[in-house]
Amino acid sequence: MIEKIKALLREAERFQAKDQEELESFRIRMLSKKGAIPSLFQDFKTVDPDQRKEVGMELNKLKQFAAEKVQQIKEQLETESINHKAEPDRPDMSMPAGFSPIGSRHPLSVIRNRINKIFERIGFVISEGPEIEDDWHIFSALNFPEEHPARDMQDTFFVGKDPDIALRTHTSSVQVRVMENQKPPIRTISPGRVFRNEAISARAHCIFHQVEGLYIDEGVSFADMKQCLLYFAREMFGEETQIRLRPSFFPFTEPSAEMDVSCSLCGGKGCTICKYSGWIEIMGCGMVDPNVLENCNIDSKKYSGYAFGMGIERIAMIIYQIKDLRMFFENDLRFLRQFTAAI
Ligand code: DAH
Repeated sequence: MIEKIKALLREAERFQAKDQEELESFRIRMLSKKGAIPSLFQDFKTVDPDQRKEVGMELNKLKQFAAEKVQQIKEQLETESINHKAEPDRPDMSMPAGFSPIGSRHPLSVIRNRINKIFERIGFVISEGPEIEDDWHIFSALNFPEEHPARDMQDTFFVGKDPDIALRTHTSSVQVRVMENQKPPIRTISPGRVFRNEAISARAHCIFHQVEGLYIDEGVSFADMKQCLLYFAREMFGEETQIRLRPSFFPFTEPSAEMDVSCSLCGGKGCTICKYSGWIEIMGCGMVDPNVLENCNIDSKKYSGYAFGMGIERIAMIIYQIKDLRMFFENDLRFLRQFTAAI
């Protein structure tokens, strides 16, 4: 018996563990209910009475030593693993993933991207033009008469002293650039920033955004335009949406129209958003005036087409029910963070 105890003690003294698993199997082998030490205690009954004192002392010593050894190795392994984690060149793959917050897109970008996607699906390509433009592209090529009020200082920001150079007041300038540089068929949309000398209020700003659309080909009709815009309205505001075209005037389209969509919030019944009319105006449109085609060297006898233009802020205000246009430009994080889930 005494020999067995001594052998186990030597084994316990020599024991080292490189991980928790090894330590645990040592503990089970030595100290668990059916382990070597408890079974020696079982055998203790059979020891000669005159040897009992000595054997008992040795046995207790062994038990205590083994228990302390297990505890000591356990602590050692724990500190090792902490130090190990701190080593920069050895990443700890078990650590919880770090959280780095990602930014959110501006609501105007979200809506612009949606508009782009809707038209891209039916073959429109995106085109862009400069924000600082000349009179020809903003006004003259688009059939604005010399004395048109939009050319006035009160509406247009001129750049420097040159009356020919101004910040574009609409993205219709891009349709001129596209027509000058491409041959029909043309199917393009031009999103961008525009500038007008207006007093800032809940409904107007001196900087805002538009998307211009242009379709030129042989035999394009007003009915084609209507179908295209109905498709857009339903993709943007929901498949139940109805559209309505009202006669209007723009120098660059003939005939011209203003397009309303049925109010997606009240379903046309009447609410504060549609001012109890059931309809919301969202864009201007029309058949491109033959003068504009000729100004851009496109044969107006052979080709016809339609154009449309809408304000991105306006669409975003309807979709998100935003009542004050200034919120888009204030960069208030409490406002912008509401759009984190958007793509
Ligand atoms: N450029 C016009 C504006 O800023 C919007 C517009 C109306 C664009 C009719 C068009 C159009 O292409 O056909 O108010």
